[in-house]
This record gives sequence, C-alpha cells and structure tokens, in this order.
Amino acid sequence: MSKEIEDHRVLNRSTNEPFSSILEKHVSRRGVMQGGLGMAAMSVLGGFGLAGCSDSDAGNGGGSNGGGELPEKTALALAFEAIDGSRTDAVVVPEGYTAQVLIPWGTPLSNSVMDWSNDRMMTPDAQANSVGMQHDGMYYFPLDEQNASSDFLLALNNEYIDPGALWSTNTPPGPTFNSGNRPADEVRTEINAHGVTIVRVQKQSNGRWVHVPNSPYNRRYTSATPMELSGPVRGTDYVITAYSPDGTLTRGTNNNCASGYTPWGTYLTCEENWPNVFVKTSGRENDDNRLGIPSNNGRYAWETAANDPSEVNGEFARFNATPSGATAADDYRNEPRTFGYIVEIDPYTNTRAVKRTALGRFRHEGCWPGKLVEGEPVVFYSGHDSRNEYIYKFVSDAVWNPADANRAGGNYDRLAIGAKYMDKGTLYVAKFNANGTGEWMALTPGATTQDGQRLSTALGLADNDLAGIIIHTCDAADLMGATPMDRPEWGAVDPVSGEVYMTLTNNSKRTEDGTAATYTNNGSDVDALGVGYATAPVNGPNPRPDNESGQVIRWREPSPEETTFDWEVFVFGAAEKDTNNLSGLTELNQFASPDGLWYDERGDGEGILWIQTDNGYDGVADYTNDQLLAVVPNSVSLGEGDAAVIDASDQQQLKRFAVGPNGCEVTGIFATPDKTALFINIQHPGNWPADPNALVQDATQKTSGTVRPRASTVVIQKADGGKIAV
Ligand code: FEO
Ligand code: CA
Ligand code: CA
Ligand code: CA
Repeated sequence: MSKEIEDHRVLNRSTNEPFSSILEKHVSRRGVMQGGLGMAAMSVLGGFGLAGCSDSDAGNGGGSNGGGELPEKTALALAFEAIDGSRTDAVVVPEGYTAQVLIPWGTPLSNSVMDWSNDRMMTPDAQANSVGMQHDGMYYFPLDEQNASSDFLLALNNEYIDPGALWSTNTPPGPTFNSGNRPADEVRTEINAHGVTIVRVQKQSNGRWVHVPNSPYNRRYTSATPMELSGPVRGTDYVITAYSPDGTLTRGTNNNCASGYTPWGTYLTCEENWPNVFVKTSGRENDDNRLGIPSNNGRYAWETAANDPSEVNGEFARFNATPSGATAADDYRNEPRTFGYIVEIDPYTNTRAVKRTALGRFRHEGCWPGKLVEGEPVVFYSGHDSRNEYIYKFVSDAVWNPADANRAGGNYDRLAIGAKYMDKGTLYVAKFNANGTGEWMALTPGATTQDGQRLSTALGLADNDLAGIIIHTCDAADLMGATPMDRPEWGAVDPVSGEVYMTLTNNSKRTEDGTAATYTNNGSDVDALGVGYATAPVNGPNPRPDNESGQVIRWREPSPEETTFDWEVFVFGAAEKDTNNLSGLTELNQFASPDGLWYDERGDGEGILWIQTDNGYDGVADYTNDQLLAVVPNSVSLGEGDAAVIDASDQQQLKRFAVGPNGCEVTGIFATPDKTALFINIQHPGNWPADPNALVQDATQKTSGTVRPRASTVVIQKADGGKIAV
C-alpha cells in the first residue's frame, strides 16, 4: 500500500496489553523448547524446517554459522551476489539476471479496447477491459500441469489509483471537480481501475513473457462487480441494502492489497483500506468508528457523483452510508458492512466472486493457507494492517480431503469447495506472551472476555449472534485481550514445517509505556467499547518504540486444532548505522518496512523466504529504493540471547536480490513451478517504465525525461535459463 492511502489514525482504543520488560521480550528459543509446547511442536513437525529446534543451537550465544549450531540440512544456498542499494528510475537485479516489464496498467485485455499509448484517455469501458492500476498481491493458476511454468492465468490485485497518472490527459491534469462534484464517468473509470485483473500470460520461445490479448479467461473484477456474501453474515440484517434487500449481494471489492490462494485452485483477494472510500456523516455505529469510516468525505469523493442523471441503481449513492431512508432497505447505511472481507475468486470460470465473511471483517492485508494435512482442518492466517491491530487465524470445521485439490484447468465448482472450507469454522485472534508462547483466542459468541463477560454480551449482541461478532471483529478482539501489533502485512507459510512468518511493517504509535487516549473521531467524542490508548506500549513481538523499520516474526503451532503457539522475531529491519539495528544488518541487506513475503518451497523441506519492502524510513531510503531480499531460513537459527533469528553473524545469509525504481514499493510475488521465473510487482513507481508507449520492455532500463508512470509486473529470469537464486 502506498503511504498515500494509509490511514494514520489509531482506531484501536482497547487497553490490550503489553508486557513490561523489554528484556523479557526477546524470547530465547532454548527457553521455549524446554516448555511442553515446544516439544509437542517438534514431534508434530518432525524436524522439517526447524533448524533452530535442534539441541545444537542451544548455548551458542553468538549464533555463529561456522559452529555447531548450523542445521544439518544445508543443501540450499543462495548463489547470487547481494546487490548494492539503488536510487534510480530502473529495476536492478544481480549480474546474470534479466528483468522485463509485463502487463503494466492499461494493458488491453481484449481486442475491443484500443492499444495502449502514453496519451491514452481512460474511459469507464476502456478501463474495465484493461489491466487495473497499482499492482499488488498476485498468484498464478496453471491451465495444465505440463505447461504450468510457461502458460497460466495471472490473478492480480489492483489496490488503488494514482489520480495524477490516470488523469494526466485532462486539462488541467488531475481529477475533475465541478462545484465539488466528480463527473460520473471519471468516477466509473476510477472504480474500474480498482479490483482484480485475471489475464493469461505465456512465455515465448525467445524467453520473453507476453499476455494473451483476447483470451476468454481475461477479465476484471472491479469495485462495481456484483459479488456474493457468504458465511455467517450472509442474509442477516447487518447487510441489508437498497441493492440487496435480502442481504446476499454487494457490488465490488476495494483496495485489494495482498493476495492469497486456496489448495483447491481459487484466488483470495483481500480488502484493506476500503473504509476510506465511504462517508457516513451521522447514524454511526461502533464498527464505523472502530474501522474508521470517514465522517466528512470519501477518499476520491465518489459519493459526490450521486444523483447524476446517468446514475444506475445507486452506483454512486452507495458510497455515502449516512442513513437517508426509512429502513436499511431504502438506503446504503449498511454498504460498508459488505466490505472488509476475504474474497474468493475462481480464476478459471466467469463465476461471481464470493466474500467469505467467516474470516472476519477488518482491514485485511492478505490471507495465507497453513500447512495442509489430510483429515485435519484447513487453516488461514490473516493480519489487520493498521497501527496496533491484530493477527487472526481461521480454522475450518471441515477437514481436508486431498480429492478437493486443484485440478489445473479442470471445469468444476471450485467455489462450492470454498464454501465447504471457508464458510463454517472458527475465527481466532492472537495473543503473544513475552516468554515466547502465544494463544489463539476464539471469537465466538460464547467466548469469555478478559473481563469475564460473555463476548456476545460485552458487544451488546444477542446470545448466538455470530454475524454480529464478525461485523464487530475488531471490537471483539479488543475485548478478548489480543496483542496490538506493529501493522501486520504479509504472511508466508513453510508448507512442510507449518511455520508461519509475518511482516510487521512499522509503527509510529508504539512507545515504551503507551499512553491513554482521549479518543475522538473527526473532532467529536465517539462511543466505543474500550478505554483506549494513544500509543501502544512495547510488547514481546513488538519490542521497539517508535518503530520505523519493522520486523518479521515467526511462529509454529502443534496442530491446527491447538490454540497455543510459540514465536520468535525472525529479523528486525534497520539501517546499518542505527543503534537499534538488532539483527546487525549491513550495507548489503539493510532494509525497512518489510511488507510482501513469500515462502518459496524448493523441495526436501528447503525453501527461500523472500522479503519485499514498502519503506518510508529515511535511514534506509536515503541509501536505497524499495527492494527484494532473500534468505534460506534453514541457514539461520536463533542463538540464545539473540534478539532475532538473524543476528550479526548471519549477514551472508540475508541478501538483497532486487531494487525497484524511484518512488515505488516492491510487492506481490511468486515463482513458476520450475523456479526459472520470479514474478514481482512494482507499485506506484514515480517515473517508470522507461518507454511510456511499450507494454513489454526491459525493466532495468533507466527512464530519461518524464513519463506517465505505470505500475507493472516484472518477470525476473536468469540469462542462462536456470533456477532463480540458487
Ligand atoms: Fe496495502 Fe498494508 O499494504
Ligand atoms: Ca505497506
Ligand atoms: Ca502491503
Ligand atoms: Ca542466528
């Protein structure tokens, strides 16, 4: 997410806490492993990917890679030279690698749309049939196993818009306001630039990648596309609108940030900074305040196009959630309650997307499946990206049947499988203890809050109102005593060990002791359920006050049904010169604000953890643009007393692999199954790619002059066609 659309308010006013001593917050793996959970975890996980669990790592305070703490399995090593930082209008990759631009914003998906050109004026129809703006999370979906690495469907989030680039063709350049109102077709165009792009891509015989312009698979899901509501919230009074009086449908998905996928071959797209496209001036309820629905105007003022003579079925009025009719079926007071979900899309068919409400309602960064085990529940992890918000997990009621696994390109009802695993289950929120253990707390009506109340009662809900719990997910988590985190972004799961990694990008509202808040929303005191704080106190996994550079944490669970886990910090971001450079980073790997994350499985229990950044911290930004780093987790382990798994002795293991152009964020990542092509996204570049008229081009070419910037996918390959990074 760009800082342009971040919401800097702290909306969590619970008192959830904290632990007092920073020293206690650096978990010793040895201490953890001496506890019962650690041993249970080890037996279940069988040692795969648990290098740090071997006895040999205990007692080696230095964490040396040359001594006895090295894991036994060291087959996988990063075989590229870490690159220097860069601050240019170009992508930089290691020697021996190429990088090309693919499907930049505006790429036509069908022959009905004019070819891209730098001076192309966007229209609602053209944008609805072209690649959307500001690429973020993505994943690939093979059409057949044989060509899985050279011909597949790419599902891509288009998180938000760059109005300057979108309307650079206006006179004067920029979005239009007529007496404060937006023109209907500009709003439609902007709505259509958001959402998800599905596009078929292929590798040509010359090694270059292209999209298939008129593939029947190509399509868009925008912020106007009709979608189903599913799970506990479907059909309840909470989501009755003039558009869907029975509360089963809504229109659009918005501010889709990180992505996910399911084992049955569907794409998960996640609604992050959606509250700010709405406005609600009165009739506000707890969830409106807790999630930060604006009370003055929407981010792009889409609501101001309401009552345009061309408006169809409240297409603009729905962004104003202020009650105006006699009942909820007469207005859009509940429209925001149809957002904030994980959305499931079958990329292979033209079926309706489904909002899986059982996975909670908040500013979802992304959604990642846990380790898959036949006969055990299916697990999804998710984080709420705002300052001092929480980490969640969903555990399905149904147990995994391998017959439900994706059959690439097969024509069957994947969304029915999705309903089986994602509509019924239990949502949990995480509490991290300072001693390296943690607890998943169920958000069910009958759960007992930290004050000893029934959760439904504490929220003012009827006894069995699970839909109400979901609508008020954040308030429910506050009441249970969840641990406020430093802005959870992406997660990644080692599919063999089941270990989960998550980026905590930064937090300017974290202080040593925390401060109580006098909570207001747009100038007036608001009703809320907790006592609140202006800043959260430091705690175990978030030990640094005024945390500008973020960290990556890791946890492991004995099994999906268990509600305990143990955790450690994997790496702290920092500038090399920082006094709180707790992982001892150097010039060649200093980074800040980790965001994108992917565990790249390479067989035999080995893999590469890829870390992407979305940095605003000058200590690092003065040295390099946003970047992509790699580490083999099995090559590093936690030494006793170390603040994190990656410490000063591990600097050869964490390597900078790529750097993006000026102004950008590096986000979204996967590799082809044969590991010869790594796909990443360059979001909100300032002045790139170099050729403003071309679709496919060299991503490493520096821009000369000024161009209309376009977010793009970038395909990184080895010049010799070999596997990436090894
Ligand atoms: Fe859209 Fe949290 O990044
Ligand atoms: Ca971010
Ligand atoms: Ca992000
Ligand atoms: Ca170490």
